[in-house]
Amino acid sequence: MKPKVLVARAVFPEVVERLRQFFEVDDNPQDLAWSQADLIQRLQGKVGAFTTGSVRIDVALLTANPQLRVVCNMAVGYNNFDVPACTARGVLCTNTPDVLTETTADFGFVLMMAAARRITEGEHYLRRGDWKKWSYNQLTGSDIHGATLGILGMGRIGQGIAKRGAHGFGMKVIYHNRSRLTDDKEAECRAAYVSKKELLQQADHLVLVLPYSAESHHAIGAAELAQMKPTATLTNIARGGIVDDAALAHALATRQISAAGIDVFEGEPSVHPGLLKLSNVVLTPHIASATIATRLAMANLAADNLIAALTGGVPPSPINPEVLAR
Ligand code: GLV
Repeated sequence: MKPKVLVARAVFPEVVERLRQFFEVDDNPQDLAWSQADLIQRLQGKVGAFTTGSVRIDVALLTANPQLRVVCNMAVGYNNFDVPACTARGVLCTNTPDVLTETTADFGFVLMMAAARRITEGEHYLRRGDWKKWSYNQLTGSDIHGATLGILGMGRIGQGIAKRGAHGFGMKVIYHNRSRLTDDKEAECRAAYVSKKELLQQADHLVLVLPYSAESHHAIGAAELAQMKPTATLTNIARGGIVDDAALAHALATRQISAAGIDVFEGEPSVHPGLLKLSNVVLTPHIASATIATRLAMANLAADNLIAALTGGVPPSPINPEVLAR
């Protein structure tokens, strides 16, 4: 008999078909919004789960489903998993690193440039019919080339953004991270390590690419925004909750910073009403990895993990590999 797995969100049908070759699959092709109680119920009898970043794997779920062996996130971030609780129960957790690095780094640039060059503001102005003539100071923004790019969080995606900035746009790149890159990596990214304070004070364009955790909650709040240049932009492609969205709305409204590009929000898909009112923020619905090729690669990597974990193979991207060693 095939092992039973749950695909908790709608995903590429061809990937679900792939999983059906190995498993008895229960899925959610209509992408219904299951409550946590529904999810716990649907997982009964399942040994594996294919999840996305909005599917919470917590202690209550694990306790109600002691048969669960593996949870495979179709996302590089995994703050939706209680990893220590999974590890304690021998549940393997996996994510989808690498396959989305370049696509997501591209999007960091898209959003940063859109904010700096006032792209959505300009489009709304045009669509409203307000564009009557050219003027010398119409929608003037700030330069990307030659500016100082600040990166908070220097993992794979941060390094991708650094390389684009340094090599493509002649930017001076500074970064702050829990750990410093090796000299070789710093040279490759042409990036200099600075303190968080220096990063905030010196960046013309600050991009956030750090994982969400209790320590990074509100890493950018009122105090941090107050240290930034009034001409600076802030881009968040990391996770909601890293920025205090209320403080950001206030800083943008009072021009403490000049603009922002935000793809991830506290409590998304809700967006802080203060942000919705502002013209100097570009808002996108958590789409940094959203190209067809990359989303398909992410889905296939999550499937690879699920298949390997439950058929005696080696899962390619475990988060808690110590579970495998047991
Ligand atoms: C998307 O946010 C991801 O973590 O992959």
